[in-house]
Order: sequence, then structure tokens, then C-alpha cells
Amino acid sequence: MEIANRHILITGASRGIGRAFAKMCAEDKANLHIVVRNAVDEDLIKELETAGAKSINTLLADLSSRQGVEQLLEQLKDTPIDILFNNAGLLTGGLLEEQSLDDIYNMFQVNLNTTVHLTRGLLPGMLSRKRGKIINNSSVAAYMHFPSASTYAASKAAVAAFTDCLRTELRDTGVTTLLLITPGIKTRMFKEIEDLYGKTFQIPTEALSPAKYVQMIREAILHDLEVLEPSGLTGVGLKIAKYVKPLFDFEVARRFKR
Ligand SMILES: NC(=O)c1ccc[n+]([C@@H]2O[C@H](COP(=O)([O-])OP(=O)(O)OC[C@H]3O[C@@H](n4cnc5c(N)ncnc54)[C@H](OP(=O)(O)O)[C@@H]3O)[C@@H](O)[C@H]2O)c1
Repeated sequence: MEIANRHILITGASRGIGRAFAKMCAEDKANLHIVVRNAVDEDLIKELETAGAKSINTLLADLSSRQGVEQLLEQLKDTPIDILFNNAGLLTGGLLEEQSLDDIYNMFQVNLNTTVHLTRGLLPGMLSRKRGKIINNSSVAAYMHFPSASTYAASKAAVAAFTDCLRTELRDTGVTTLLLITPGIKTRMFKEIEDLYGKTFQIPTEALSPAKYVQMIREAILHDLEVLEPSGLTGVGLKIAKYVKPLFDFEVARRFKR
């Protein structure tokens, strides 16, 4: 699908991958609908205007509640969204008994329920226009099951399963899906990984810049890829986790210390 002139909704656009993605879409002259949790960030708007956005619509929404998502969908009811990027996300981690229940509920709400809810809300419009793309930001954690990542990995595995089911469901409708099996990206979340997992597990440190990663997403959109997987060492690790699981599990267990 083209990016130029499309209406693109991006959650988690305030920073990290979402912000870099918004800038990339602006450079491609898209109409941006950026979802941010807090007050409008004038620097972000200026950055996107300078980059060349065709239009910018800022939507305020706290995606950690069903009501927040409902209010967002209400604001979007007359907007013909072509591309939905379900990107907002939170990291949880540590030994399960040490993770806060509030954090776990909050994370599942943002990472999974909001993704499902927003997709369900925007899909009827896409189907009636016979045009749309749903991009879901999962993670290598969906397949690479590290200790201390139990709850986060569960949310991302669910996002991958959700997207995979939709991919077939939407065949021949004009609406497509793109599943991002995102590797380490140098954002605030990546820094949190060391704090949350590092006590018990030797973390792989390979990471891309957000700017580089969004160029890969751009190519995947333009070529209508269904899945974007990492290359490099992480790509090799992912393949081992998927296709030679006993070897992956052996190596993970060797690196884990409770
Ligand atoms: N970085 C990595 O290594 C990596 C690897 C695999 C997958 N991912 C996935 O990539 C996505 C983006 O991550 P990132 O690395 O860019 O993380 P980030 O820099 O921490 O950004 C997270 C974004 O999500 C938004 N968000 C969080 N909770 C929200 C809420 N309740 N309501 C509205 N917005 C909320 C944040 O908004 P605020 O600014 O308001 O907090 C922020 O814009 C996530 O789904 C993450 O799981 C990242």
C-alpha cells in the first residue's frame, strides 16, 4: 500500500518507534492521526510539519482503559483511516511473583486489549471502503521465551496470534495485516529491559535505531509484506526459537540464574 496521501492512525506516537514512524509517514506526505496520552506536544507537531505531513490530527487518549479506547473511536467515527498502527505498548518483567498486578493488568490492556478493540472499531470502515492495513507491533518475545519476560511475552504472543488469524480472515477484502516481530530497538523501553530482566538473565544487546527500523516497516508497507522479521543475530535466534526450540530452551536455561 502507498503511504502518500493515506490517513494513518498511530498509537504511542509521543516517542520511540511510534514517533519515528510518524516522521517517516510525514516525509512520505501522509495525513497523520497521532494518538498521544498527554497534552499536545508542540515540538512533535513542528517536527511532523517540517518533515512534510499533509495534515496532522492530534488525538488525546489514555489507552489503558476500555473507556479511553471507546472515546478515541468516537472521535474517529467520521475519519476514513487507511492504516492503523497499533504500536503503543508497555514492558513488564521480572520474576512473576515480583511483578506488580496493577502493572500486569495495565500492560495487557494497552498491549493486547487496546489493539483488539481499536482494530475491531476501525475494521468495518476499512471493509466497506475495501481498503486498509492493520499493523500490529508484536515482538521477538512472542517466540523467544525468556525468563523474567513471562507476562510481556504472553501479551506479544497474543498479538501475533490475533494478527495471524485476521490475516486469513481478511483475505480478498482489500484489507491486509502486517505483523511486526520487532527486535531490540533503541528506545526508552529498550533501556527498561536491562532493569527488569537483567537481574536473572543475560540479555541480548543487539538493537537498531528507531529511524532504521521504521524504514524497514516502510518497505514492508509498500511491498505489502504480511510479516516483518529481524535479520542479524536476533534473526538467527528467532529462527532457532521457532524451529529448533529444544536448543533455544537449553541456551536460555543456561543463562538464567534465579
Ligand atoms: N524497543 C524495543 O526494543 C521493542 C522490542 C519489541 C517490541 N517493541 C514494541 O514496540 C512498541 C513501541 O515501543 P517503544 O520501544 O517505542 O517504547 P517507548 O519508547 O516506551 O514508547 C511507548 C509508547 O507507548 C505509549 N503508551 C504507553 N502506555 C500508554 C497509554 N496508557 N495510553 C497511551 N499511550 C501509551 C507511550 O506514551 P507516553 O509517552 O504517554 O508514555 C509511548 O508513546 C511497543 O508495543 C513495544 O512493546 C519494542
